[in-house]
Amino acid sequence: MTDFADRPTAGTQTESPGGVPVVEFQGVSKTFTTRSGESIEALRDVDLSVQPGELLTIVGVSGCGKSTLLRLVAGLVQPTSGRLLYEGEERTGARDDLGVVFQESVLFPWRTVLDNALVPAVIKRARRAEVEPRVRQLLADVGLSGFEKKYPFELSGGMKQRTALVAALSTEPSVLLMDEPFGALDAMTREQMNVDLRRLWQERSNTIILITHDVAEAVFLGTRALVMTPRPGRIKADMEIDLGAERDISLLGTAEFATLTGKVRRELDMN
Ligand SMILES: Nc1ncnc2c1ncn2[C@@H]1O[C@H](COP(=O)(O)OP(=O)(O)OP(=O)(O)O)[C@@H](O)[C@H]1O
Ligand SMILES: [Mg+2]
Repeated sequence: MTDFADRPTAGTQTESPGGVPVVEFQGVSKTFTTRSGESIEALRDVDLSVQPGELLTIVGVSGCGKSTLLRLVAGLVQPTSGRLLYEGEERTGARDDLGVVFQESVLFPWRTVLDNALVPAVIKRARRAEVEPRVRQLLADVGLSGFEKKYPFELSGGMKQRTALVAALSTEPSVLLMDEPFGALDAMTREQMNVDLRRLWQERSNTIILITHDVAEAVFLGTRALVMTPRPGRIKADMEIDLGAERDISLLGTAEFATLTGKVRRELDMN
């Protein structure tokens, strides 16, 4: 694994001022057995420590185990070997204190934007009166004021993803997991979503783990970016993204941005 910056190793990170990692992988491997009995090694020996408030981005080629890594964090699949710790403790089963956003938003066509955004709160049996003001504020924060009563078919792709993002944040999850959330959007909408996500993250200081195929997105968004090897996925490079807190579109044209994206691309190409 390549460390580009002077950053503590996984071992010392747990004692850093950041506190106990929200999620920690200790030598985690995952092998699936397909219906035909074939073994597929998706992840091999992953050590990873995610600190509170990080916006961690993960890039890797298709099939290298990125979604598997996220599903492990969500407790939807269990490691074949190794340990997964949440705030220092081992827990089993699916977790309900996470927000999740996938590539294609999953909205109910018969529900309005507001009611779609309230679905996770309904599932958690939260009181609507308590959650609705927060959800309305979140909708405003992502530019959906005035769209609360619209239905999904009346929205653009970007608006649907914004609604899905608000839904994921509605229960104030400690960790937000995003799997290619903007992959289906056009480049301009995607850039705007990136700027908005950075702002939301700064305002709310969530921990975010975001998977992407897009190197520029990984660098623009991340406080730290991981590059994975092709399957079986391992962490090949772990880079601090030292581009400051305030990031706007103009950053995309700077030399320091090009240097960092170049480094990530080199890591992706060298197997
Ligand atoms: N439930 C499963 N059963 C069997 N094999 C699986 C299962 N889930 C994932 N795999 C396999 O594990 C490997 C990693 O899959 P994963 O979905 O994590 O990749 P990915 O990096 O997210 O790919 P992409 O970028 O295309 O989304 C693939 O070879 C896939 O076929
Ligand atoms: Mg995937």
